[in-house]
Amino acid sequence: MAQLINGKVVSAQIREELKAECEKLKKDYGIRPGLAVIIVGDDPASKVYVNNKEKGCAEVGYYSEVYRLPAETTEDELLSLVQKLNNDDKIHGILCQLPLPKHLDETKVILAIDPKKDVDAFHPENVGKIMIGNYSFLPCTPAGVMKLIESTGTDISGKECVVIGRSNIVGKPQAMLLLQKNGTVTICHSRTKDLKEVTKRADILVVAIGKADFVTGDMVKDGAIVIDVGMNRKADGKLTGDVDFASVEPKASFITPVPGGVGPMTITMLLKNTMTAAKNTIK
Ligand code: GUN
Repeated sequence: MAQLINGKVVSAQIREELKAECEKLKKDYGIRPGLAVIIVGDDPASKVYVNNKEKGCAEVGYYSEVYRLPAETTEDELLSLVQKLNNDDKIHGILCQLPLPKHLDETKVILAIDPKKDVDAFHPENVGKIMIGNYSFLPCTPAGVMKLIESTGTDISGKECVVIGRSNIVGKPQAMLLLQKNGTVTICHSRTKDLKEVTKRADILVVAIGKADFVTGDMVKDGAIVIDVGMNRKADGKLTGDVDFASVEPKASFITPVPGGVGPMTITMLLKNTMTAAKNTIK
């Protein structure tokens, strides 16, 4: 039987540390970390994420601004808001919630954000820094996963690490972070031949494929650490991950639940990046 990795507990510990750091930064330098969040349109899931980001800022004592823009917002309007925030000293981090409505070009918006304020670490400059292992902003979800693996007391060095999913937001940066910790990393995706043969080798399996209950017990090695990044809404409205918990849990040594595993970590890592961005402004 696996031990559950409790993302709420790990996240709460990091937020306590950030709250203390925030107090200290205000006292020593008169700087209060500030985050601006932009949401365009009314995608229900995005609205929930943005509200949670706003609450997260309040919890640790940061300044925050949320721009809730109508779906018809033009690219020029959005890019001028980004420019204004790039030049605003109260704002250390800028996040534009994705996905954007179809008429807006996500790449243009990401490129417009000052890399020093790019707390999502989506700008190619920051992606490149992650690739060479010399970075200040952590990719939020993969960094949260690393904290959860760390919380099990496992040394990643030399372990077989398998990542299922190759997105720019999770799979690719996840593989880089595991590699930096000297894991032997394999990235699998929808075209991988004999996926089970690969996943069975994993000491650490990170699943970010976006398909409900995709990984089943027969695909997992005994004693593996299984991290489920998935968040899928079932027909009955319940949240479920990419891992079939019922069949995988008896085989794993550690497993993250959904909800309550990776989810709570992502915003916490965003808050950590905002702290880094604020500290980086100290001359
Ligand atoms: N939409 C889903 N996840 C994310 C994220 O991490 N950052 C942004 N900006 N949008 C998202």
